[in-house]
Amino acid sequence: MNKALRKAVIAGNWKMNKTPAEAKELLEGILPLVKDAGCDVIACVPFVDLQTALEVTRGTNVKIGAENCHWEKSGAYTGEISAEMLTAMGVEYVIIGHSERRTYFGETDVTVQKRVRAALDAGLTVILCVGEYLEQREQGITDELVAMQTKIALGGVSKEELSRVIIAYEPVWAIGTGRTATAQQANEVCAVIRATLAGLYGKDAADATTVQYGGSMNAGNAAELLAQPDVDGGLIGGASLKPADFAKIVSAATEG
Ligand code: 13P
Repeated sequence: MNKALRKAVIAGNWKMNKTPAEAKELLEGILPLVKDAGCDVIACVPFVDLQTALEVTRGTNVKIGAENCHWEKSGAYTGEISAEMLTAMGVEYVIIGHSERRTYFGETDVTVQKRVRAALDAGLTVILCVGEYLEQREQGITDELVAMQTKIALGGVSKEELSRVIIAYEPVWAIGTGRTATAQQANEVCAVIRATLAGLYGKDAADATTVQYGGSMNAGNAAELLAQPDVDGGLIGGASLKPADFAKIVSAATEG
């Protein structure tokens, strides 16, 4: 496996935080600190912040993503946002299948697959989230589960389209808990995801795909996690709301 083949990607997932005015302030805090980043930097923000975020980051090295999208192009789906709506605004990335959507909003592997399909069809790059609950880790089924989530989500995705997919391994027990996977645990499962991709698409495609770790990654632990051979970046929740902390993670990825 050759880490040099793929670019590190640090993405913030702001979750349900920040009004448009607060988003502007946060991004204006982040931009000067990450302007020389040697990795890709993305901020995934609430739908209502997208317009502001796109305006504030125009001409900078920070790209903007949404946190979800629906699988239909349009229609009677009250409260939903389509992938086409996002690309029409200039959004380039979208998170799909975050565990909070799976846990609280009835997201299943099948709906994740449909959203991935729609996002790719619309021209977006997908940050696909997979990961196990603590009980599943304790049962010893993490590897099978994560491989299965990956395979179902990528059903129908071509090798060419895989170049617009980033996979984020996010163990649910590490999200927002301050309990991070060890660097070894993170690397093991990221390697399982890469082996799953190799089985589906071949080694070259797997080696070229960015696999991130997410779950309580912060300024203090990022360097060790990002130095692992199969960890190519991070999906950052809480620490992405703090410019100095987020910038430290970006620096660690540049070095990692
Ligand atoms: P925390 O970094 O707050 O644990 O959140 C991780 C996450 O869910 C990113 O998508």
